[in-house]
Amino acid sequence: MIHATLHQLKVFEATARHGSFTRAAEELYLTQPTVSIQVKQLSKAVGMPLFEQIGKKLHLTQAGEKLLSTCQEIFNGLEQFEMSIANLKGMKQGQLKLAVITTAKYFVPRLLGPFCKRYPGIDISLKVTNHQQLQKSMAENEDDLYIISQTPSQPDLAVHPFLENPLIVLAPTGHPLARKKNIPIEALNDEPFIMREVGSGTRTAVEELFAKGDVRVKVRLELGSNEAIKQAIAGGLGISVLSQHTIISEGTTGEFAILDVQGFPIERHWYVASLAGKQMSVVAETFLQFLLEESPAMAKRLLPGLGKSADSGEEKVVQMEQRTILKR
Ligand code: PGA
Repeated sequence: MIHATLHQLKVFEATARHGSFTRAAEELYLTQPTVSIQVKQLSKAVGMPLFEQIGKKLHLTQAGEKLLSTCQEIFNGLEQFEMSIANLKGMKQGQLKLAVITTAKYFVPRLLGPFCKRYPGIDISLKVTNHQQLQKSMAENEDDLYIISQTPSQPDLAVHPFLENPLIVLAPTGHPLARKKNIPIEALNDEPFIMREVGSGTRTAVEELFAKGDVRVKVRLELGSNEAIKQAIAGGLGISVLSQHTIISEGTTGEFAILDVQGFPIERHWYVASLAGKQMSVVAETFLQFLLEESPAMAKRLLPGLGKSADSGEEKVVQMEQRTILKR
């Protein structure tokens, strides 16, 4: 059995994460020599070097890599243990790591307010990124729960659908097509178009629909943010296809009009997912239940017209069947 202290493992983990003694020292409020001595003692206990210095950068050796994954397992285990004890004491406390696709940032933070009020002992870390980056986080097992709108083929996930996420054609108000009904999709060929970046789930869905309808829009601008696209639309640079959630605050009363184009809205859903083999923490379970229970009512309040074009008059907030799909 290797004689290593928990403190040494923490120092080692921080050094490995930052690739630097100095930055690990800053994070842990220690001096740089203390960090380097702790790592040296740990290497001695292991009997092999844990880092090698190439140029200015520290790299993990093979033994270092193995120790890092062991550390992560130990820390996760301890975190789970802490949460279970808090749960046994009748308190819900601990950290929830949530990673969501860009469109969910308009909705999820609004849900977090009431959640944190109900469970003041739970700290939340929220990461907002596109579909491709989220898949990378899943592969690295970085978070407890993921909000996605396309279920990837890998990794295996436990998936719960919870709200509609329709994609709509957004134009500036006053656009000549804004008053037309049932616009043929080919009409988009003549419009300057603003597209999300490669790796975006929105882009993939749009490209699939355009490929099916043999539509070839003129992409005038490619932007990696829904907000930047909205500003470009408002500035008259073109039209785009975005999630209806992106206009949660403005609706269609201000700068935007939803065009009634055939084939739209593209009907999609949000799913809350966790890695299939992963033991869910008490905190993650608590948030999952809260999300499934509270989100339909909140969506109804925030987006009463979710899923309908500007004046179809028909409300479509679908309360989806709460089921778990094991995606393989
Ligand atoms: P994206 O995902 O940011 O990858 O486009 C958003 C969505 O699919 O709703």
